[in-house]
Amino acid sequence: MTPSEMQKEIRALLKEKNAILLAHYYQSGEIQDTADILGDSLALSMEAAKTDADIIVFAGVRFMAESAYILSPEKAVLLPVPDAGCPLADKITAAELMEEKKTYPGAAVVTYVNSSAQTKAESDICCTSSNAVKIVNSLDADQVLMVPDGNLARYTARFTSKTIIPWKGFCYVHDQLSADDIGKVKSEHPDAPVAVHPECRTTVIDMADFVGSTAAIIDFARKTTAREVIIGTELGIMHQLKKLNPEKTFIPASKNLICRDMRKIGLRDILVSLKEMKHIVTVPEDVRAPAYKALERMLAVS
Ligand code: 13P
Ligand code: SF4
Repeated sequence: MTPSEMQKEIRALLKEKNAILLAHYYQSGEIQDTADILGDSLALSMEAAKTDADIIVFAGVRFMAESAYILSPEKAVLLPVPDAGCPLADKITAAELMEEKKTYPGAAVVTYVNSSAQTKAESDICCTSSNAVKIVNSLDADQVLMVPDGNLARYTARFTSKTIIPWKGFCYVHDQLSADDIGKVKSEHPDAPVAVHPECRTTVIDMADFVGSTAAIIDFARKTTAREVIIGTELGIMHQLKKLNPEKTFIPASKNLICRDMRKIGLRDILVSLKEMKHIVTVPEDVRAPAYKALERMLAVS
């Protein structure tokens, strides 16, 4: 079967089953082009919470599918490749978070959506890369534990008077990008602004002209008058950037910005999963209910 035949069959099955395909910007171009909704983590959670489809097929990683189920437990949520995880989400366990909460009893817990359902269940509120500052500043507490991404926590700390206590997690894709990488590409393209994701290291963020979520980077790229833009996030985003701005050039800040888990899913996996209703994601109700509260509070602030 060719990719375009698979795309057609997926679209027909989605219609027949009243299903919706949600895809993250880090997915392959052919998956992005097949999706009903393409977005960053926040937009995709919002869609999962409000869709009236019976089935949600998530082209992304496990925490995204889990969040969709937590928000819409009456729907069947499919993750076409069950072991597409997020190594950042695995950087903290619920047990570790419970210990950390004992060390800082007065602190509010803000958990990045890139986390397990169990970790979310131990949290006061969730955040994504696009609303972290707003979420932190919406809280009454003066001390905030931010888990699991230390880089996002340190970036958020720049925009609040609250004391942020970062956890030691990181995303291996973004954290590998170095100030030297930026310096090198900048020396080759001195007029190109640098746009990076807040999961990047502080030294990289210091060199950036723009910092934001995947959706915010796409928006920045559309609005800038620059003809060339240096991109410091997972390279799946290039597909949309090029499609939306054919007259501009996008330069990867490094060739290594590839998330192995995001790339595990192919069109065939989506087709098989939807056809056979395979790889359904659920979360036990005693975890889902408190995790729902943390996600729901986030959506109420966003
Ligand atoms: P966004 O919130 O920008 O979609 O990022 C998700 C992610 O996994 C970043 O690595
Ligand atoms: Fe997780 Fe990083 Fe992959 Fe995003 S890019 S899914 S944070 S490992």
